Formats: sequence, structure tokens, C-alpha cells
Amino acid sequence: MLSPDIENAMNTQIAAELYSSQLYLAMSAYCEEQALPGFARWFKIQSDEEREHALKFVRHVVDRGGRVMLTGMDAPQSDFGTPQGAFEQALAHEMNVSMMIDGLYGMAVQHGDYASQVFLQWFVTEQVEEERTAAEIVQTLKALGGEPAPLLMLDRELGSREG
Ligand SMILES: [Fe+2]
Ligand SMILES: [Fe+2]
Repeated sequence: MLSPDIENAMNTQIAAELYSSQLYLAMSAYCEEQALPGFARWFKIQSDEEREHALKFVRHVVDRGGRVMLTGMDAPQSDFGTPQGAFEQALAHEMNVSMMIDGLYGMAVQHGDYASQVFLQWFVTEQVEEERTAAEIVQTLKALGGEPAPLLMLDRELGSREG
């Protein structure tokens, strides 16, 4: 059985992962609007992955005899200023999610909940990857300094992401 504390925190995490999915979908649509289909594809795949993350938590809560409680959520913004602005926000968001995952892991340790610790290890590793990827793209965008030709090349590269 899940402790009520962990059940609660996992429900909060489900909401956070679903919000991530909405946020990246909004970023995808924004990039589409900016005529950057590769960026848009990258964010759409990211959005789908975040929904998968939420579903993993749903599975874990259900498997452990807990109750899934979905909530309403804030709307993400629709204008991110620039593609670089979108990726900067994505990085800040992932850093926040990493803190949430670390908090959950700490809670699982405190409660001696080994099954949740094993479950959460995948997410700890995933967050390292998520932060690294977003940070790399932010760095690349900064180096481009808004030049249109290299931006279109980066758009082609991001568009080759496998879904
Ligand atoms: Fe996630
Ligand atoms: Fe993520």
C-alpha cells in the first residue's frame, strides 16, 4: 500500500506531468506559428512523452492500491517571445520538475517505500537527460543570436527527432 503522503505527492506529480504535456503542446503550436515546423515537431514529441510520464505515475498509484485524483490545471501561456524564450522556459520547468522528483524520492526513502524508490529511479535518470537536452538547445540558440539561416538549419535538425 502507498502511504497517504506518497499517494498525495504522486497525484501532484501526475498533475505536473500533465501540465508539462500542455506546456509543450503550447510551445509546439507557438513554433508552428513562427514557421518553425522542426521546433514544433520536437515540442509535440516532448508533449507526448510528458503524457506518458503521467501515465506511468497513474499505473504505479493504481498498482499500489492508491487512488488517482486528477485536478484542474492552469493554462500555459501561448506566446513565448522567441523560440529561445520557449526553450529557456522549458529548461526552467524541467529544473522544477527535477526538484519535485527528488522530493518524491526523498519521501519514499523516509517511508521505507522500496517499490516507489525503484519506480522513481527511472524518473531521476530521465530528468538528468531532460535538463541536459534543454540546456544544450538553449546554448545553441544563444550562439545563433537570432540569425535566420542557422535557425532554419537547427529547425531541420530538431525536426529529425524520432517520435
Ligand atoms: Fe516528465
Ligand atoms: Fe520533462
